[in-house]
Amino acid sequence: MKKSAQHNPVTLAVAPMEGVMDHTMRGLLSSIGGMDYLVSEFVRVTQYPIPTSTFQHLVPENKNKAQTEHQHPVHTQLLGNNAELMAESAANAIEAGATHIDINFGCPAKRVNGHGGGSVLLQDPNTLHTIMKTIRNELPESIPVSAKIRLGYEDEALLFDNVAAIEAAGTNKLTVHGRTKKDGYKPPARWEKIGEIQNRTKMLVVANGDITDITSLLKCQSISGCNHFMIGRGSLNNPFVFQDILAELNGETRNKQEHELFNLFSIYTMKLQEKYDEVATLGRLKQWCGHLRFEHASIRDNLTTLRRSNSVIELLRNIEIVLKG
Ligand SMILES: Cc1cc2nc3c(=O)[nH]c(=O)nc-3n(C[C@H](O)[C@H](O)[C@H](O)COP(=O)(O)O)c2cc1C
Repeated sequence: MKKSAQHNPVTLAVAPMEGVMDHTMRGLLSSIGGMDYLVSEFVRVTQYPIPTSTFQHLVPENKNKAQTEHQHPVHTQLLGNNAELMAESAANAIEAGATHIDINFGCPAKRVNGHGGGSVLLQDPNTLHTIMKTIRNELPESIPVSAKIRLGYEDEALLFDNVAAIEAAGTNKLTVHGRTKKDGYKPPARWEKIGEIQNRTKMLVVANGDITDITSLLKCQSISGCNHFMIGRGSLNNPFVFQDILAELNGETRNKQEHELFNLFSIYTMKLQEKYDEVATLGRLKQWCGHLRFEHASIRDNLTTLRRSNSVIELLRNIEIVLKG
């Protein structure tokens, strides 16, 4: 199921999600297709530049021209607050094979903000500018550099200063999660604010937050004026979301098929087992069930049983019963 680019009026991206959207999940979603690119979990830069080997280990797609097995580009995301160390790390990422660098200014996690990285930087447009400019200057012009922000830290007071600072640094693209750090994940994402940014910048703006299907995507499009969208949690809830959206845009409806999901679950299990031990595999599978329940009533209704599974085999058996009856 490959998308046909000329019939696709929108660009769809898979959001970076630390602890969930790893190489295995990216590969799984990419095997279904429908997205234009994916973004890696953030690689945190703290005391020293991240070496090339680490970028190949943490984002293995970099060894394959920064593409998944199914040829979807994967952008490498960095998080930190030291411009020089981040620029040197970015150069190492390129040496590792990365073809696009994204900088995370949106992470709300305490342990990250406590060390001066992520959304805490949205309080300081000058630092945003310095980081983006230093990285831009370090990399060849052919390498796109993008940033991902929230609307602000406590509030939106500095939103347009932040956007201007990032743009003035020569940044190509800006992904905006339509919430402040203080908002956490409380709905709704404010797509109208993303629209205001879109009207004020020449950077390509990618709208993000609460897009889960064709209805929310079209609503976000009409409110924000964006044609580029990033989907995070929605892609874990429904791994077919990108294909569903493309089908709907072509006036078709894809039927939700539980057996398709069972096959996917089995493949994901095998891929996880290649990388993780039994406990970690079981943990990741149960974590995914927690997301799938939002789109699959059968999983929601049996979540307790699924979560009580004591082994991967038992969970697979249980999910087969749940999905196939
Ligand atoms: C578990 C989790 C991990 C996340 N990790 C990252 C990350 O590594 N980098 C980043 O820029 N955003 C991260 N985010 C934010 C998402 O990329 C996205 O902006 C947010 O979930 C809103 O989009 P959604 O409503 O489509 O999920 C994470 C979000 C979640 C829920």
